[in-house]
Amino acid sequence: MTSHRQPTRVAIVGAGNVGATFAYALLMSGLAPEIVLIDANRERAEGEAMDLNHSVPFASPATVWAGDYADCAGAAATVITAGVAQRPGESRLELARRNVAIIRDIVPRVATANPEGIIVVATNPVDVLTHEAWRHSGLPAGRVIGSGTMLDTARFRYLLSDHFGVDPRSVHAYIIGEHGDSEVPVWSLANIAGMRLADFCAAQGLDLDAAAMEHIFRQTREAAYRIIERKGATYYAIGVALLRLLEAIARDQDTVLSVSSRIVDYYDVGDVSFSLPTVINRGGVARVLRLQLDETEADGLRRSAAVLSATIRDVEGD
Ligand SMILES: NC(=O)c1ccc[n+]([C@@H]2O[C@H](COP(=O)([O-])OP(=O)(O)OC[C@H]3O[C@@H](n4cnc5c(N)ncnc54)[C@H](O)[C@@H]3O)[C@@H](O)[C@H]2O)c1
Repeated sequence: MTSHRQPTRVAIVGAGNVGATFAYALLMSGLAPEIVLIDANRERAEGEAMDLNHSVPFASPATVWAGDYADCAGAAATVITAGVAQRPGESRLELARRNVAIIRDIVPRVATANPEGIIVVATNPVDVLTHEAWRHSGLPAGRVIGSGTMLDTARFRYLLSDHFGVDPRSVHAYIIGEHGDSEVPVWSLANIAGMRLADFCAAQGLDLDAAAMEHIFRQTREAAYRIIERKGATYYAIGVALLRLLEAIARDQDTVLSVSSRIVDYYDVGDVSFSLPTVINRGGVARVLRLQLDETEADGLRRSAAVLSATIRDVEGD
């Protein structure tokens, strides 16, 4: 039987470091045979599209082009990585306001071209911008998803795996809340082979080293600062994190990912966007999972939500 399914299209708004790296990962994966790059700097998008197309003979058939918002039509998802960087002396709030203005400009155009698709936000501050994107899109909240703490969770699992000497894919642990300084490690549920970390250590005659665990979380939380000091930007890990999210959407996988979305009522907080383990499929957010947090973690999550609510109020006060 002939298949009449449309090829999977992914639109990327912002063809800078993150957008271009994600486009490259997506192209290499073979997941989306149509990739459109949209950028205020048209030449940048054109250059990236040319370079990416020249890698197709070594990869799978695909078309990459520099396009316009109308090309978001029919895309399974539009991934927004457009933004401006912090100026010297600029506060995080001022930067947030400038990127909020960009999101408010982009999102209605994406939603008009593609009212059935999903919007994924990666631009920082990602939780605030995910919330703004939802408010200005007119889309159901479940179809506006921030990359949230996917990256922090990956960093956390990597560092734990390095400490315990197992594959990061065998470490199950989450960072929840804000993608940023108030994020919360869920130590009480972290496990390897179904064993909580204390039990895993006991089974091997090891002590669970509290200072080492604290150091791992600090390295997780501060990783972006350390990388930016050294190379100016981060883009490889977020590029593949976005690919994993797109795979869960395009292949309808019901994968649990720590993404940001509008939270309605969770540990007494609501109407703010932050990350929790979330089931993702073709429709976007299928459901947000309710974790059994301990008191310290629940308090941390409430504090993180309060930080985000305050920033959202500040940027919406304009
Ligand atoms: N969520 C995460 O985990 C994560 C990780 C890394 C980076 N980021 C964020 O991703 C964003 C992009 O980072 P980058 O290193 O790719 O920056 P970059 O400067 O390399 O690229 C940004 C691109 O956005 C474009 N742009 C700016 N305004 C636009 C507009 N109004 N419409 C269309 N395009 C526009 C620019 O022309 C540029 O090409 C930043 O906000 C960064 O903090 C997020």
